Amino acid sequence: MNGIRAFGATPSDLALDPFDEGTSSYSKAKDTSPIARLQERIDRGETKLSHDAQFGYLLSLMEELGVSTHSQLLVFSKTSLQRERITPKTPRALYFNDDVYLGFIPGAPFIEVSGMDSKLGGVFYSIDQGKTGRPRFVRTDQCLECHTSTKTLGVPGPLVRSFITDADGVVDMASGTSLVNHRTPLSERWGGWYVTGTHGAQTHRGNLSGREAFALHEKEPNHLGNQMDLRRFFDVSRYPAATSDIVALMTLEHQAHMQNFLTRLNQDSTSALRQFGHLNMKK
Ligand code: HEC
Repeated sequence: MNGIRAFGATPSDLALDPFDEGTSSYSKAKDTSPIARLQERIDRGETKLSHDAQFGYLLSLMEELGVSTHSQLLVFSKTSLQRERITPKTPRALYFNDDVYLGFIPGAPFIEVSGMDSKLGGVFYSIDQGKTGRPRFVRTDQCLECHTSTKTLGVPGPLVRSFITDADGVVDMASGTSLVNHRTPLSERWGGWYVTGTHGAQTHRGNLSGREAFALHEKEPNHLGNQMDLRRFFDVSRYPAATSDIVALMTLEHQAHMQNFLTRLNQDSTSALRQFGHLNMKK
């Protein structure tokens, strides 16, 4: 089926595009995202990333890419390539702006990076945290195992999920909402995430890990809700900020879905034009 399939479709309606053989030749195509542009500036000697003993290249990357520490989100479900490092005591921190996403785990071998390209969608890289003379972004299409699926509308891009986890952050795959966007009720969001900020009587699944916490949540729905301080859960000094802000979370969820939607529309309309465009030109 051709045409603009993403329009009005739910993820389960969407067949995966063979994106690597089709319109975009993804893995060979040139990335024009801010990550590729930063690498070019580094290669030309116009800028240099500086290394920090505690945060590796993270702070320097954020400065170069214009990403604020206020965007910090903390996720403790084991839902990443570096999953063995992620626990409720050592959550993964995510940072983002309009077209860049960073994933940082204290002490992990590399920082996960993705940049948005107007044609390709998300383009994924890792960069070593250890100090080297010439830090480089390494393009890693292995990330697409998770970052291209029906949950990203079939295109490479950002992903947000919500799962019930045990006390170590291991997800219960049968639980909760596996895809979160701006339409997901708050009560189904943030399983596996820390959440700071107040939300009145509304409930969510953030800050809960393990059977006991979820049992208490059943009895008292806002158990561990309305948290301003995460110190009771883990050592916040290992992160550049102490928050996993509720507004930043909602912004991410809206933005991630919208970006995948736009990538999908662009790819579908490009392929439709390629196939049927000549009909219009004859008129
Ligand atoms: C096993 C599945 C999986 C793999 C493989 C994976 N990721 Fe992710 N990634 C996720 C999930 C799920 C999220 C959403 C946050 C969460 O639940 O941990 C995410 C979130 C991210 C984010 C934050 C923006 C967003 O999409 O929400 C970045 C950046 C990221 N991943 C980069 C990478 C990079 C770079 C690689 C490859 C080196 C990679 N990921 C491989 C599952 C994966």
